Amino acid sequence: MTVAPTTRLQDPLITQPGKGLAKVLLLSESSRNHGALDAVLAKASILLEKAGSTEAAAEAMRAPGGPEVFLLECGDDGRQLLSWVESLTKSAADAGILPCLLLLIPQAHTELAIAGIKAGAYDFVPQPCLPDRLLAAVYRAIEYRRLRVQNDLHRYHLEQLITARTKILQNAMQQLEQSYDVTLEALGNALDLKDAETEGHSKRVTAYTLALGRAMGLSEPQLRVVGRGAFLHDIGKMAIPDAILRKPGKLTDAETAIMRTHSELGYRMVRKIPYLREAAEIVYAHQECFDGSGYPRGLMGEQIHIGARIFAVADTLDAITSNRPYRRARTITEARREVLRCAGTQFDPAIVDVFTATPDSIWLNLREGIMRDGPEFSPFSYTFGPVEVR
Ligand SMILES: [Fe+2]
Repeated sequence: MTVAPTTRLQDPLITQPGKGLAKVLLLSESSRNHGALDAVLAKASILLEKAGSTEAAAEAMRAPGGPEVFLLECGDDGRQLLSWVESLTKSAADAGILPCLLLLIPQAHTELAIAGIKAGAYDFVPQPCLPDRLLAAVYRAIEYRRLRVQNDLHRYHLEQLITARTKILQNAMQQLEQSYDVTLEALGNALDLKDAETEGHSKRVTAYTLALGRAMGLSEPQLRVVGRGAFLHDIGKMAIPDAILRKPGKLTDAETAIMRTHSELGYRMVRKIPYLREAAEIVYAHQECFDGSGYPRGLMGEQIHIGARIFAVADTLDAITSNRPYRRARTITEARREVLRCAGTQFDPAIVDVFTATPDSIWLNLREGIMRDGPEFSPFSYTFGPVEVR
């Protein structure tokens, strides 16, 4: 998550050295008089503030309009102060906007200087300070902090820009996918018109497959693939002659063989459409059986796309609970019994478990919704809500 820089980043006090008021905060271990330091900085229009304790210094550093430079005067035993500085910079969420740290250390105390740099100090100035040396170090520190702040702001704005552009792109992609789905619905409706026996079947089976997929814990992107595959499962029937597709009686062996080509025909029809590439696998495998006895490839178990395995159960539910010219629709209880009977042979037992644990009301509500809304019902609207398994 992008963290917005505090208002201090836009603080007008951050100025070019020598071109306006800058602020330096001093924390000292000693109680010496800092009048000389005050005078040097005042001459350069730099305001010197003093903190009486580490707590006061930490508060002053984070306050709006706080200092650009933090002068820390360490005595011979300044290591304790340094570890405080280190913990401050490491733990502060806004470490990036803390003032630039300058150390004032006793003359020839090199070890302390090195430890200070390791703790996050930008530079050090040996004491007693030469005014020019001190001023030059303060200027450099102010300039360094100004650049650091500008860099942080620039990065922040860039991140904001990227987030905004990404959102626009995602919305555009979503709209594009929605318009694809509208096209798919037109295709499915066309098939339903051609094959009167299955009127509404594509939508029902898609709704059932999505509800089962959701109960199986499939992700939203997986559900989109599975929904499209289920909806288009019989699209290959568009290429089956009407004399066979609409034949009222039993099909001959030759006709059955032709009818069975619809899986592969459907696969070939949709596989070249990039956003349907994976859904095409479901179209291809929708007549396969878990034990390998299905067609066209005789795939087994997990060789069959999860969407096709879920679809198989949804398809049987719809077939049993729909009217046919030769028999009336049967109940969901009967469908459940039949699915259970074929667990491990026609169906994946894991999916059967989820199906048998799903309340009848889920299927009834979906069926009623499709009947009520007719052509207006969109199987891709994903408004079914979560499916609660008993
Ligand atoms: Fe089929």
